[in-house]
Amino acid sequence: MDKIKITGGKVLNGEIYISGAKNAALPLICASLLTDETVTLTNMPILSDIRAMNALLVSIGTQIDEFDDFVDGHPTKTYSYRTKEFSSLIAPYDYVRKMRASYYVLGPILAREGHVELSLPGGCAIGARPMDIHLAALEQMGARIEIKNGYVHADVDGRLKGAHIIFRFASVGATCNILMAAALAEGTTIIENAAKEPEIGDLVDLLNDMGAKISGKDTSVLTIEGVDKLHGARHKVIADRIEAGSYAVAAAITRGRIELINARAANLQTPLNILRNAGVLIQEKENSIVVDAVGRTLTGQDIMTDVYPGFPTDLQAQFLALMLTAEGAAMVTETIFENRFMHIPELLRMGANINVHGHASAIVRGVSKLYGAPVMATDLRASFALILAGLAAEGETIVSRVYHLDRGYERLEEKLRGVGADIERIKETD
Ligand code: EPZ
Repeated sequence: MDKIKITGGKVLNGEIYISGAKNAALPLICASLLTDETVTLTNMPILSDIRAMNALLVSIGTQIDEFDDFVDGHPTKTYSYRTKEFSSLIAPYDYVRKMRASYYVLGPILAREGHVELSLPGGCAIGARPMDIHLAALEQMGARIEIKNGYVHADVDGRLKGAHIIFRFASVGATCNILMAAALAEGTTIIENAAKEPEIGDLVDLLNDMGAKISGKDTSVLTIEGVDKLHGARHKVIADRIEAGSYAVAAAITRGRIELINARAANLQTPLNILRNAGVLIQEKENSIVVDAVGRTLTGQDIMTDVYPGFPTDLQAQFLALMLTAEGAAMVTETIFENRFMHIPELLRMGANINVHGHASAIVRGVSKLYGAPVMATDLRASFALILAGLAAEGETIVSRVYHLDRGYERLEEKLRGVGADIERIKETD
């Protein structure tokens, strides 16, 4: 398994191009299942999670064409998806266990075919992550749901029916799944307490371009007037706000300056305000964000994760690492997932001063120095936090289990090397 070696202490300076958003691309791919025509997605990130989703779609009958492309001079992928007819209505355990987002096939296949079998993903490193909100909403729309042998079996006679659905929690995944299911349902569906993450707005845009009738984009009440048929479309994936936020921290933690090309400040207001309050200079431009911490002394800031537009749980680990280099204390509270502090024991090995209180809160105290160490993490964002700590640390850090990073950070070493980091991938064959 590959490892990443970082020699810390370099001040990062330059530009980083922000790729298309993984968490937008995954539901967009599945939206293509709603039509027998071609859906083309551009500005797609080059990531193992995208390859995993593509493999699942191929296994159920989708024809995928892949093209190398350039957006603003940066390498990217364009994929065309066409599911003329399904060869299987089953999303097997082998695919779903590798990538939970496989559950995005549930709503579209059920809406188009009236039957689907999806392996339940089970828990993961950051929490239990049940699917009850998705399933209760589909039942309200007339689906019969049974759990047998680890699989959800969902059936409906005729079409799904529009319903008035109130989510008990603003789940990102359930909002996407029910949006897709409702697009082809009979009648009108109203989702109250819908999630408002920008990736959902991107899905609404694609679905409307495919002929869906969805209003309320970017609000917590979505109204979907079901239509009989959807058609093909071409769509450019939005920039990855979490990748942008992660590299913003790379600038701040090394007291450097990075311009995040293609990043949208509007989607990152809460994290950018934390950086500003900590003492980082932020310049918001039309198509980029400049993060400048050169010569700055940062001060600890309390952080509490929340649904959008609150502070994203997907940036909690990275900002926690940053607070280790700030003066004073910061209280970091995780409210979305029940087990998302797995980076802390590894950071402690690098000289961090962190006290965890229960499952949800940690007091982080700035330290005068972090020291390189061999570390490993159990999920994508936690792994990036270790990379960040390695960039700021004295000496060498080796991050193992790099496959976590490959799921969500495109060309990570290349991007960081481009702004002056001393980072390399060590290929291992075992
Ligand atoms: C999405 O996961 C993202 N994944 C996650 O990104 C992100 O952390 C999360 O949203 C929150 O922003 C993708 O977009 C592919 P949720 P999702 O449903 O949809 C509970 C990353 O690193 N819940 O909003 O699974 C759940 O257990 C990742 O890129 C239920 O209880 O998130 C969790 O505690 C990881 N029942 C909370 O809600 C349900 O039916 C938030 O989950 C659904 C969710």
